[in-house]
Parts: sequence; C-alpha cells; structure tokens
Amino acid sequence: MTSPVSLTLRRPDDWHVHFRDGPMMEAVVPHTARQFARAIVMPNLVPPVTRRAQAEAYRDRIRAAVPAGVAFEPLMTCYLTDDADPAELAEGHRAGSWIAAKLYPAHATTNSHFGVTSIDRIARGLEAMEKAGMPLLVHGEVTDPEVDIFDREAVFIDQVLGPLLRRHQGLKMVLEHITTAEGVAFVEEHAPRVGGTITPHHLVINRSDIFKGGIRPHLYCLPIAKREPHRRALRRAATSGHPAFFLGTDTAPHTVDTKESACGCAGIFNAPVAMQIYAQVFTDEGALDRLEAFASLNGPRFYGLPPNEERIVLRAAPLMAPDAIDVPQAGRSVVVFRPDTPVGWTF
Ligand code: DOR
Ligand code: ZN
Repeated sequence: MTSPVSLTLRRPDDWHVHFRDGPMMEAVVPHTARQFARAIVMPNLVPPVTRRAQAEAYRDRIRAAVPAGVAFEPLMTCYLTDDADPAELAEGHRAGSWIAAKLYPAHATTNSHFGVTSIDRIARGLEAMEKAGMPLLVHGEVTDPEVDIFDREAVFIDQVLGPLLRRHQGLKMVLEHITTAEGVAFVEEHAPRVGGTITPHHLVINRSDIFKGGIRPHLYCLPIAKREPHRRALRRAATSGHPAFFLGTDTAPHTVDTKESACGCAGIFNAPVAMQIYAQVFTDEGALDRLEAFASLNGPRFYGLPPNEERIVLRAAPLMAPDAIDVPQAGRSVVVFRPDTPVGWTF
C-alpha cells in the first residue's frame, strides 16, 4: 500500500491544555490555536480558577492572546476545592462560564495544593454537577507518599474512582491523561458516561525513556510514563476507534530553568507538535482512518458539542518544529517535546 502524501482531517480539539497566564500564556496560546479549534483549559493557576468571574476574565485574556484571523475557542473549567460552592458550580455551567470542573487531589501535581483533600468534602458539589450534566475531569492519582509513584493511577482507580462512580450514578467523568492498562480498562468498563484522554507523549515514551542516557527532565510529567506494556495498551485504546477515548495533549509549559533543576517541575510542552505525533502513532498502528474519530469526533460527542466543520491538512514530510519557544518578556524559553523516533508528518 502506498503511503498518503497528505492527510485532511476535520479540525481537531484539545480536551486538556495548560495555558498558564501572563507572558507564558501569550507565548503558548498561538501554538494550540494553530492546530485546534477549541481546547479545555485547565484551571491550575495561582490562585486557582474557582469562581465564575475568574473563569470569564481568564477566558478574555486567552482570547486576546489568539493571533488575529485565527478562530479558537477556549472552554473553561472550575478548580474544585474542599469548599466548592454547589450553586456556583451549576450556575457557571448553565451560564456557559465553564464546561466542567477539575478534580486535583491535593498535592498530586503542579499547583494542586488548593485541591481536594477528600472526596466526601465535595459530595454536594458532585451532586450539583450530576444534576446539571456537568462533567468531572479527574487527575487520577493517589497522593499517599507510601504508594509507589508508578502505582498511583491504578490505586486511585481502585480506591477512589470505583466508589465515586457508585455513589454518583449519573455523574459524567473524564479520566484525564490515562497512563495505564488499568486506566484503559476502567474507561472501557464505564463508557459512555466515562471518557479518557490520552496525551501524545504517553503514546511514544515509556518510563525507561526518562532515564535513557541520563536523567531527562523534559520527559518528566504527572502521571509519570509507565512500563512498555502500558504504553502499548494506550496505543491500542487510542487507535481502536472506541468513542470513549479522545485527544487531550496535557501540554504543560514550564521554563527551561524550572525543568532543568535539582527538583524539576512536572509537565511536557507538546502544543507545536501534537497532531504530528498523533498522526505518526496512528500511521504506525495502521489506523490512520481512525485518527479523525479520536482527534475530532469523540470529544465533541462526549461533551455534547458539534464537531468542527473546518479542515486541517498535515503533510507527509519530516516534522518541522522549533526545539524551544521563547517567552520574551520573561527572558526564558520552553523546550518543545520531541520523540526519539522519527515523526513523518508536518503541519
Ligand atoms: O505533568 C503535569 N503537569 N501534570 C499535571 O497534572 C499538571 C501539569 C502542569 O500544570 O504543569
Ligand atoms: Zn494536565
């Protein structure tokens, strides 16, 4: 079979991004807006986005950072804290201030120290979300330091998510950035009310890559990449065509100095190369015909939104992207993720 020279797809959406704020936001937003029509914007700023007015003001700042002539719609989220207000959650959803709420277990990851200390504390908020049809987006890792970092997702699914779904029978949920075979199985078992996002990096690196030739801080993110069989399970899920799996890059910029440090930050910045990497994965798995479902159809269906009508075209040629992008006002740069294996699509 001859390989295609180009690939035309409905414009995709990114169902999980970190834009930050200020000069960093201004530097990264154009990269996401170039590839994607819409993106779900994570609320883990300092202070976090917990009120409708904050979400709306943040949305305005993001819109102002979109280059002229580019159509891009940020979809906002609410950061759940122990004292989340059920009425504010539901009202913000009804009014279109936010599309979903994000559950960070306290201390699980970057800027999660305001997060939820116990699911019991947000039970009334979850009931309000269930009634409103507002999805819960979950960072699925336990925070108990006794639990090995590579087991934290599987233990969370078992100990927290199972009981949560039983208690809130109508709640829609996305298990974000799944990294394990257990995550895949959980989403399959509870679809269609549960969906799962899959990042480009978790499709192409395993945990050994983080230490290949020395410690590689730009491959460190949370949840951390797992063993090879888990990566394979993620590739199977993403390319299966199953409607519960959809695209979420978890692009998470940190400046070089904070990554290359004695205690480096978690997060991989992949916005400029995301669709190219997904396309390569689907090519390698012989599933290019299913890329559009994963990237452009399954997510909108889960969120009850129409798919995009515009198209994007990827070209079959070695990936062209910068090694890093500048954050001019901060005098810093952010390294762009690059797989060790060749990427034969460019955009
Ligand atoms: O690696 C990560 N980085 N994982 C997260 O959950 C948060 C993100 C960030 O905000 O940097
Ligand atoms: Zn994230």
